[in-house]
Amino acid sequence: MNKPPVHAVAPEPWVVRFATQIPPGQRVLDLACGHGRHTHFFLERGHPVTAVDIDLSRLAKRPAHPRLEAIEADLEHGPWPLEQRRFAAVVVTNYLWRPILPNIVASVEDGGALLYETFARGQERFGKPTNPAFLLEPGELLEAVRGQLIVHAYEHGEFPVPNGCRAVRQRLYARRAST
Ligand SMILES: C[S@@+](CC[C@H](N)C(=O)[O-])C[C@H]1O[C@@H](n2cnc3c(N)ncnc32)[C@H](O)[C@@H]1O
Repeated sequence: MNKPPVHAVAPEPWVVRFATQIPPGQRVLDLACGHGRHTHFFLERGHPVTAVDIDLSRLAKRPAHPRLEAIEADLEHGPWPLEQRRFAAVVVTNYLWRPILPNIVASVEDGGALLYETFARGQERFGKPTNPAFLLEPGELLEAVRGQLIVHAYEHGEFPVPNGCRAVRQRLYARRAST
């Protein structure tokens, strides 16, 4: 069996940085989970995790876990698969489909957190993705959560990436106030 590439295994430093802020034992949503590097990172931290992707075959290469709920769904052409569900943390990395940004924000429970990081405008200079549909505009994540979540950390800029190159990324850590 082929091993997933290193970048598909190690969690994003942005996610690691704020993971301690997610209450132990609370459910995490890993949206567009891919190989499941964040799914397994949070499972290993003791969280129940809901992992969603259009293709769960890569996640399925890892051993099954009793606290894992895996949902195969097309987030771009099907209904939102998590209607009425709320999570203590919603994690989205390296994925953007603008029409569901409101669903993503709404999935954060009271007192919960959104951790989002993906490529942003300016990335075209370094390589893929170059399609503006997959690149966040400056401040776009701030706009997506405005009036709903409280922003604790936000960055947009050129950062080193594991392959030794640089990439333009935008990242956000925001929380919904507790009621
Ligand atoms: C670049 S990977 C990121 C994976 C993971 N979040 C990470 O950072 O390691 C993008 C993921 O989005 C998923 N994806 C693409 N289109 C999708 C869709 N329409 N519905 C659900 N997932 C989709 C892909 O299957 C892939 O796993």
